[in-house]
Amino acid sequence: MQPIHQPESSARLSGEPTVHASASVVNSHAGAWTSIGPGNKIIESTIGDYTYTMDEVTMNYCEVGKFTSIASHVCLNPVQHPMDRVTQHHMTYRRAGFGFAATDDEEIFDWRRDNRVTIGHDVWIGHGAIVMKGVRVGHGAVIGSGSVVTKDVEPYTVVVGVPARPIKVRFPAETAAKLLQIAWWDWPREVLEERFFELSDVETFIQKYGG
Ligand SMILES: CC(C)(COP(=O)(O)OP(=O)(O)OC[C@H]1O[C@@H](n2cnc3c(N)ncnc32)[C@H](O)[C@@H]1OP(=O)(O)O)[C@@H](O)C(=O)NCCC(=O)NCCS
Repeated sequence: MQPIHQPESSARLSGEPTVHASASVVNSHAGAWTSIGPGNKIIESTIGDYTYTMDEVTMNYCEVGKFTSIASHVCLNPVQHPMDRVTQHHMTYRRAGFGFAATDDEEIFDWRRDNRVTIGHDVWIGHGAIVMKGVRVGHGAVIGSGSVVTKDVEPYTVVVGVPARPIKVRFPAETAAKLLQIAWWDWPREVLEERFFELSDVETFIQKYGG
């Protein structure tokens, strides 16, 4: 047996988004300390500071908050085809590529833009989860591996399954309310650095900063 030499697993991030060379990103924005993983496909989305995506994540027309963790093979907003047309094949709207018209049918793309997915701050989205069109996921929520989320998710709530249903909350309601009020995700970097080690104990954290 030979030792396996692993490349460095967590390269230092920075104020600029770190995007893996194999990712495809179109008309999107990302904040500081963000990382976009291998094989991602991101279209017309905004990704908040510190949020990261693992491998093969697909994201279409999304607003993603800060400090959100997105596992591999997650799909946020799989786009819809027009089921009411004679054919739902994409030639009716990607018609230029097929030589049927000079331009594509923007109506379909605008319809998709109108059904954005919104993910809050500090959300954890498990492996292979899918979040369907128009869904809003609250701050601090958890989406279990393999879930298909079809309805909005309340803050600090854990949802699992197909379709995803709430199974528990991360914290009692008063604690969650305090965290939402503190909104630590909006602290400037220097404040975060100063208080960084306090993030691991929720009780003392809300006693100190919960007002
Ligand atoms: C959702 C999750 C956080 C819950 O973890 P937990 O609090 O330890 O929950 P438990 O394992 O005690 O499970 C609680 C119940 O939910 C069910 N459950 C847990 N995760 C589930 C999932 N992803 N899909 C469907 N059901 C799930 C369990 O079967 C159990 O059901 P029961 O009460 O009928 O027995 C965890 O299961 C999960 O999916 N984590 C994501 C992991 C991941 O994808 N990581 C990627 C790298 S970041």
